[in-house]
Amino acid sequence: MTRLVCVSNRISLPRKSAAPGGLAVGILSALKRTGGLWFGWGGETIETEPADPDIHIREGVTYATIDLRRAEFELYYNGYSNDVLWPLFHYFSKGMRYSNEQREAYENVNRIFAQKLLPLLQPRDLIWVHDYHLIPLGRRLRELGVQRPMGFFLHIPFPNIEMLRVLPCYSELLRDLTSYDVVGFQTHNDLRSFHSGIEHLFGADALRPDGRIRIGDRTIRAEVFPIGIDVAAVESEGLEASATDVVRRMTDSLVGRSLMMGVDRLDYSKGLVERFSAYQQFLETHPENLGRITYIQIAPLSRTDVRAYAEIRQALEQAAGRTNGRFADTDWTPIRYLNRNFPHATLMGFLRAAKVGLVTPLRDGMNLVAKEFVAAQDPADPGVLILSNLAGAARELSSALLVNPYDVRGVSHAIQAALSMPLNERRERHADMMKVLRRNDIAAWTRRFMEALEQTQAPESRVRAI
Ligand code: G6P
Repeated sequence: MTRLVCVSNRISLPRKSAAPGGLAVGILSALKRTGGLWFGWGGETIETEPADPDIHIREGVTYATIDLRRAEFELYYNGYSNDVLWPLFHYFSKGMRYSNEQREAYENVNRIFAQKLLPLLQPRDLIWVHDYHLIPLGRRLRELGVQRPMGFFLHIPFPNIEMLRVLPCYSELLRDLTSYDVVGFQTHNDLRSFHSGIEHLFGADALRPDGRIRIGDRTIRAEVFPIGIDVAAVESEGLEASATDVVRRMTDSLVGRSLMMGVDRLDYSKGLVERFSAYQQFLETHPENLGRITYIQIAPLSRTDVRAYAEIRQALEQAAGRTNGRFADTDWTPIRYLNRNFPHATLMGFLRAAKVGLVTPLRDGMNLVAKEFVAAQDPADPGVLILSNLAGAARELSSALLVNPYDVRGVSHAIQAALSMPLNERRERHADMMKVLRRNDIAAWTRRFMEALEQTQAPESRVRAI
């Protein structure tokens, strides 16, 4: 039997509620289906050298976690991963702050991941590495002699070569990606960007007509695998949570007002400042809605030690305060802005209660909240999704109201259109999107990626290790 081994920086430990962000939710539901091993950082930093992994087994999934040295973690996670790669990959090159020290820590943590994972590997494992924190891990494992099929999936966007070239070590990054047998992206756009990098570094001949990439005697499959959700789970979570105290308290407090809802990690890529401005403009230009709508924005704090995140937090507090100060009444608060997280099921209950879902990132790999909003709706009376056309999810959810998140007036109009949309149009759009979500759910995503990985073992495409 082959075993699936997932590796990611952030893992969703049993008995803790899932970390916000699509990655942990996606990998957990993939692993619950297939069983296997999940290896990653345990969430703690220490002052000593990392010890051997802690192992826990729950519901067929083995969790192996390591702790990382505080100083190194700071440079690897806050520094290189989130102050260099994250802004650059989301096309915010001005937000990037590169240093060689950070890059060395990033390389070193990847080396530690490889060393600690190696003794846990079995001869028939399929290794699946997730996200930008761990791009060099495949090369490190190959250097240690691992010959098993190895895949990499990027949950965030991949930038075009002209943006990637801003990174001093962009060619190493591209080379590292070619150590994997399968490299997966969220959208065709990301794949095209990857191709632009491969062509730049290895020449156009590396891109073969069958879509594979040929570098020396290695063949790599680079493909699009848009991540999906567990549709049935979200549907039932939303329905069941509607009857819970916490969701009831929220819906009772609306006293008949329409609910508009956003759920995002507090991240500058999510477009929250622009979203707040659009809402303010909506209240200005459609005053008949004053006192008739409540916008709840849930934005759990994220990466608080990174400066750009502290800055955006301040900007949002001011923006929410400004709108409430200007429009609130003694019995009405236009924006309820919460920096806390809720269990996943509760969030699905909140989303189900919303007439409008606002998902307007400035750039996003996929955005699973958009998909969850749709699946959580009551099909008989569904709410309307307003979705940024710069989110990966917009490719699949073309029946949402698509907006440019920078276009404050456009988003404000979309809010009005959503609130006044007739029931049959809402139902049609919802049904269209549900079809897409069911066709490409989380099980399909896992299956397609694992099949691609398994196929790399076929004799004709077997790659030479190391
Ligand atoms: C995004 C990334 C994930 C990350 C998540 C939460 O979804 O693609 O890799 O785990 O955000 O961010 P955090 O920094 O808390 O892990």
